[in-house]
Amino acid sequence: MLTEQQRSDFQENGFVLLPDVVSAQERQTLIDQAYRIIEAADLDMSSRFSTTDRSQIQHDFFLSSAQSIRCFFEEAAFDDNGQLKQPRAQSINKIGHALHDLDPVFKAFASRPDLAELAQDLGVSIPHLYQTMVIFKQPRIGGEVTWHQDATFFYTEPSSVITYWFALEEATLQNGCLWVEPGGHRGPLRERYFRDGSDLTMAPLDSTPWPDERSGTAVPVPAGTLLIFHGHLPHYSAPNRSDRSRLALTFHVVDGALTYDSRNWLQRPDLGPFVMGDSQD
Ligand code: FE2
Repeated sequence: MLTEQQRSDFQENGFVLLPDVVSAQERQTLIDQAYRIIEAADLDMSSRFSTTDRSQIQHDFFLSSAQSIRCFFEEAAFDDNGQLKQPRAQSINKIGHALHDLDPVFKAFASRPDLAELAQDLGVSIPHLYQTMVIFKQPRIGGEVTWHQDATFFYTEPSSVITYWFALEEATLQNGCLWVEPGGHRGPLRERYFRDGSDLTMAPLDSTPWPDERSGTAVPVPAGTLLIFHGHLPHYSAPNRSDRSRLALTFHVVDGALTYDSRNWLQRPDLGPFVMGDSQD
């Protein structure tokens, strides 16, 4: 349950920080399960993920990840001969995107009633959880995530998507913590990511410049913190050149009372809605 002050912080700044939302034991359970998924996965070596060069994303693998659990490699995980430079567990950029439907550990976590209440406190009347990711930000090779707004990918009219960003490990300036532009959620949506069949296109909507490391604010947080932010809030994370990973779990939550745009890339016709707070069985 959010306080009045936390709700007004969200309205004012576009984000709210909630410490100690994920216990040490829950974090360890989620982290262990993420590594178990990587070890068990039948990895497709061509499945890399990059926000600096989206043409590297293999479309079929990416599109089908909307309704399954897929592991995506870091761009920098491979040597010139296409071989992994480090063990597979340290080579994965992220796991996504239906963990909350298909994996019992992540499903149990996503079903916590207090997480549904937070969405409702922020005005998302029927919180539909569309996407779950474990983002690893691996030591030394963890890639940059360029400035963007999440409503680019989860478009509704009016905008409703909010993002939950759980720090499964401490996030610091050294290992690639999140950066945000406080108040930037009041600005326009700059881009939309359209799907047309299996084609994916990033379309410009507005030429407002992105923030940079001067106008943005770093958000280093201890493990267990939840950062919730507005779908128009510009955010970014730097590469990780440190020796420590920076695992985060993210949820993208959209108001099920609104029409989810059929041109959003992520569609889940086989799974149906995951309504946070409802019993899922
Ligand atoms: Fe994002």
